[in-house]
Amino acid sequence: MNFDFDGVLLALSFALDCVEHDLLGVETNHGKRVAALAILIGDRLGAISDGGDKQLLSACSVMHDCALTEYVSEEFGGSFERAAKMLPSDMGKHCIMGEEIMQLLPFQYFDVKNVVLYHHENADGSGAFGKKAEEIPQKERLIQMADTVDAAFDTSSLNDAKIQEIREYICKYSGEFFAKSEADALLSLLDDDILSRLANDNIDAFLNELLPGGNISCTPPQLVDFASAFAKIIDYKSHFTRNHSIGIAQKAMKMARFYGADEELAAELYFAGALHDIGKLVVDRAVLEKPDKLNAGEYLHIQKHAYYTHKILSQVKGLEEITKWASHHHEKLDGTGYPFGLKANQLGKWERLLACLDIYQALTEERPYKASMPHDKAMEILNDMSKSGKLDAQIVEDIDKVLA
Ligand SMILES: [Fe+2]
Ligand SMILES: [Fe+2]
Ligand SMILES: [Fe+2]
Ligand SMILES: [Fe+2]
Repeated sequence: MNFDFDGVLLALSFALDCVEHDLLGVETNHGKRVAALAILIGDRLGAISDGGDKQLLSACSVMHDCALTEYVSEEFGGSFERAAKMLPSDMGKHCIMGEEIMQLLPFQYFDVKNVVLYHHENADGSGAFGKKAEEIPQKERLIQMADTVDAAFDTSSLNDAKIQEIREYICKYSGEFFAKSEADALLSLLDDDILSRLANDNIDAFLNELLPGGNISCTPPQLVDFASAFAKIIDYKSHFTRNHSIGIAQKAMKMARFYGADEELAAELYFAGALHDIGKLVVDRAVLEKPDKLNAGEYLHIQKHAYYTHKILSQVKGLEEITKWASHHHEKLDGTGYPFGLKANQLGKWERLLACLDIYQALTEERPYKASMPHDKAMEILNDMSKSGKLDAQIVEDIDKVLA
């Protein structure tokens, strides 16, 4: 399978930014600004040799905090409030978890080893793993510099006073937090007008100019690894649904094989299943995890996740079909579903399959507040829904056969 690498990167960046915003309060588009800043600093230092180098830097920049949902869930029982008070000495854990995710992504063209692992190292050795500047490869230093400055100052809105503050901050910590060479390069960039292009209404176009473009191709097993990594990020957003996306992905693949799909199509269905709820990264955690019954407004807010799945995936050229399968998982054949209220004649086989599997998975998975429902009981509910014209009767029958 072939898809537009930069498109995937920018799409994922949006979802990951929402998590970082939730946890650390950093402004939206942070990942994109870290990517742009790291490339600009690297270029100024002559540290970027080719397009592959730029892709590596941008991929690692966007992904630097990809393990935050998992980290907060594992270490703080899902409490972002407690996690926000984490000590600097705890920093290393999300770096290790992030490194594990990076190793699952299909970056066969370049070596991403240790880049995310060392994104919180300081030049003087006071960072997460005590590495000094000379022990940290340059790409990690570029990302650390870009990340720290953007998180502290939000470079999307620069003015003379803020530039002066940033300048003083960098000078103060040059040689301490920041390697001197990177610090000097960013200081020289502050004198240029180019940083005004980091503003929110400009950042996409700016990053598009900076990135070399080009497609990335994936074998079916690589696509499955990639999807599994993202399923993990999504599922950890709420500790209620820890195995939800991965469960649907596996069942979609099983059903695809039952229908005689080849390995490529089966992997694409796995991908659609794994990312169907990526829009949940945008939804407020408080609503996602509210123990009581949701009011009308909150229910509408949660429903937006399917629209956001559409918004995120539809930015990527080459993922058009998968986007439909993934983002129509709450549509019903009688037109009562969401987000688009599509009807039977607008819903293809794989969209119908994911709609059935989403319900089946939700019923049969264990959650902190409910035990898992046995297969037969879940099938009764699916059968009722197919009789009332909401789900595809043949697919419901097949699910009963295959997943029993
Ligand atoms: Fe981080
Ligand atoms: Fe960050
Ligand atoms: Fe959903
Ligand atoms: Fe779902």
